[in-house]
Amino acid sequence: MIKRHLNRRYPLDLDAWKSLKDHYRDDLKNKTIASLFKCERNRSSKLCLEVGELKLDYSKNLLNHQTINLFSELAKEAQINESIEGMFSGECINTSEKRPALHVALRSKLSDQIALNTKDVDEIWSTQNRMEHFITSLHSGAISGYTGKNIINVVNIGIGGSDLGPSMAVFALRDYWVEGMKYHSVSNGDGVELQDLLSELELEETIFIIASKSFSTKETVHNAELARSVMEERYGPRSIKHHFVGISNNEVAMHEFGIQVDYRFKIADWVGGRFSICSAISLSLACIIGMQNFKKLLEGARRMDMHFRQAPFSENMPMMLALIAVFNSNIIGAHSQAILSYSSRLKLLTPYLQQLHMESLGKSTRIDGSDVCLETGNVIWGGSASDGQHSFYQLLHQGKQTIPVDFILPILSSSKKDNTYNQANCLAQSEALMDGFISKEKEQMHNGNRPSNTIIFDQISPVALGQLIALYEHKVFVQGVIYGINPFDQFGVELGKKMASSLTKIIENEESYKGKNLSTKNLIRLVRASNNKD
Ligand code: F6P
Repeated sequence: MIKRHLNRRYPLDLDAWKSLKDHYRDDLKNKTIASLFKCERNRSSKLCLEVGELKLDYSKNLLNHQTINLFSELAKEAQINESIEGMFSGECINTSEKRPALHVALRSKLSDQIALNTKDVDEIWSTQNRMEHFITSLHSGAISGYTGKNIINVVNIGIGGSDLGPSMAVFALRDYWVEGMKYHSVSNGDGVELQDLLSELELEETIFIIASKSFSTKETVHNAELARSVMEERYGPRSIKHHFVGISNNEVAMHEFGIQVDYRFKIADWVGGRFSICSAISLSLACIIGMQNFKKLLEGARRMDMHFRQAPFSENMPMMLALIAVFNSNIIGAHSQAILSYSSRLKLLTPYLQQLHMESLGKSTRIDGSDVCLETGNVIWGGSASDGQHSFYQLLHQGKQTIPVDFILPILSSSKKDNTYNQANCLAQSEALMDGFISKEKEQMHNGNRPSNTIIFDQISPVALGQLIALYEHKVFVQGVIYGINPFDQFGVELGKKMASSLTKIIENEESYKGKNLSTKNLIRLVRASNNKD
């Protein structure tokens, strides 16, 4: 395993970093992106990359060929290639949790020989076979509900990576749904989503897939127990094993919950929640689109993996996106980044990518335990673009801060008639952000010079979606390596969880609020008073 020695000021102390800063100050700061098109012939065709279905146009950024050379130097000095090899060979790159991060193995072929000696890697393909068997039986009716009715409703109960990935992909791949199957998901811990759903669903035709790597996440366990009690009340305890499926690393908890052996699917401990979309966590997705289509998504991701591992820097799409993000935020000074999809089908893409980025990069400690000396994760936000144009785009165009944008445009859509309008809007927005608009009326001035990438592909297919997912996974990984942090842990979310456990007891009057601060005490009083009204 490569041991990275990080100086106190890493990466600010790297020669390439210093050169990039100087280059920005001397050559770019006083230029506009639009002016760079005038001095570089063929800029638009040169600053474009293509991998599989995806094309990335990154020409609308404040950078030129020298910048890209310096990106390449920075990647070398930060030992990106060595880190990539570390990931693919199953090294313990998730240092704080002492395990590899092997999501790339989930979509590999046996012949790729990815980390075959690592525990549980050999189970990847047998788990996929079991998933396939389960799904085929479900679709054929060989697996049915307790009363013999066919299953048509799939309810995914999970949160974070155990919900956002599968749900995002289910909606994105709406054109691939197996006829008759319906998807539902429940994530929030207040029970409301599930209550609403239970009042609508025909339980005899429903399976609940409990997706939780730990099988101990409070929201998920709470929702799963609620669903089980309703099922039990209506059809008795014997119905449970017909209607509950588990996906977890925690075999014991699945057994104790009452999930039968054939309905348990294992995920390895080296699959991180937000990197788990290619694992059995996506069983609900595979039930809805069919295993063949799920395998195509894996193929797409594998295509991007191979590219990421092999392509030189100047052609490497994930590396380029990562370096542009680092440049925009740490050298130019942007504090957030918008991801805007021009397709209603991709409405859950931004929340999915938000977790991927913000849970991975929101760190202040480096892999050697020392403090980071620069801003790491940005705020990632955005959504479905047409809606956004009528709400938050104003800030993108005329606000004081510069917010770089990733535009995502599937060119073709199932709604052919209105799609030209959609395509035109995507291209118009990136052009307006870059070129701006000069007006005598001050309020109408658009200063322009706002950077963006455009990721464009023919249509949302399982293969293209797999490529897009892996593109962003690897982009985030590269950013983590440059910052010297571990993008695979998430201790930041633990403290709040622990405090919520003790506060539950306080709110329910089982414990006193002694020791809490005055604001929290006051809020507890208000909550208790309202609870007592019921
Ligand atoms: O609380 C954060 C988190 O651990 C995420 O990283 C993860 O995706 C989510 O909770 C769900 O975890 P689990 O799959 O163990 O229920």
